[in-house]
Amino acid sequence: MDYLAFVEQQITQLRQTIGDGLAINALSGGVDSAVVTVLGHRAVGQRLKTVFIDNALMRDGEPERVEQAFAEMGIPVERIDARAQFLGALAGLTDPEEKRQAITDTFYKGVFGDLVRQTGARFLLHGTILTDIEETIAGIKRQHNILAQLGIDPEKAYGYQVLEPLATLRKDGVREVAKVLDMPPSLCRRIPFPGPALATRIVGEVTEERLATVRAATAVVEEELADSGAFQYLAVLLNDCATGIRDGKREFGQIIVVRCIDSVDARIATAVEVPWEKLHRICRRITSIPGVNRCLYDLTPKPPATVEYV
Ligand code: XMP
Repeated sequence: MDYLAFVEQQITQLRQTIGDGLAINALSGGVDSAVVTVLGHRAVGQRLKTVFIDNALMRDGEPERVEQAFAEMGIPVERIDARAQFLGALAGLTDPEEKRQAITDTFYKGVFGDLVRQTGARFLLHGTILTDIEETIAGIKRQHNILAQLGIDPEKAYGYQVLEPLATLRKDGVREVAKVLDMPPSLCRRIPFPGPALATRIVGEVTEERLATVRAATAVVEEELADSGAFQYLAVLLNDCATGIRDGKREFGQIIVVRCIDSVDARIATAVEVPWEKLHRICRRITSIPGVNRCLYDLTPKPPATVEYV
């Protein structure tokens, strides 16, 4: 595939569609939304307003990291504090699809609905990729950015049109586009990170306390496996507890799963053979997180597992 031609074609198309209107898009901290942001700015410049929605589900230091990386490229990013809205919508929910639905509704109806009303934007630019569409249609997982393919007309439902310039690409293709756009490695070589963020890594209810636990474990895993060369690595908080001992006393503690996978496009994946010593180190650090007394390494390929747990 000629990615240079692809980029030129998408830029022309975005210019034609957006015209002299206003578009908005949200950065999630992952590669897809970062690439869409740069593509959109090349196409329409300041007529694309880029926001970072703090949904309370982000990794440690993520808003600052993203804002700085884009500031260095001359792209302003506005941070929107929607933490209370997302946490409120997720309270009490344990079913994976209900959690995904709550995030989708809060994102499209709540936060974006308000933004559209405030700014008069007519378009929402989205980093949807082919894998998201296929898995949603196959009923595997309702990826949070899928609307039209589920029969939802965003214009009717939310009052704006959704544009998806990456919808024909998979993850490897998105990385090629990032190269053509000359994006810094800190942005385009980042491991994938899902739109619903850490909510996809908490089995059971998403609460501030449980988010803090999975956020701390994520920081350990990302630091320890940064030089692994793996496609993706992550930490998951299970909804079960296990008996353990801390300071000579019984503790019914939390369980963290570590996942480190090789993949080309996230359609299929296999567990990486992380050196035993490294796994021990990760385990030691993770079981130092308050309340966590077990750390497991997930060997399951995709399929039958998926990458994320929710
Ligand atoms: P799954 O868990 O479906 O993930 O095997 C495939 C890849 O897509 C990334 N990703 C998402 N996963 N919901 C997800 O479950 C999303 O909205 C989403 N967005 C991206 C995921 O991290 C993995 O790389």
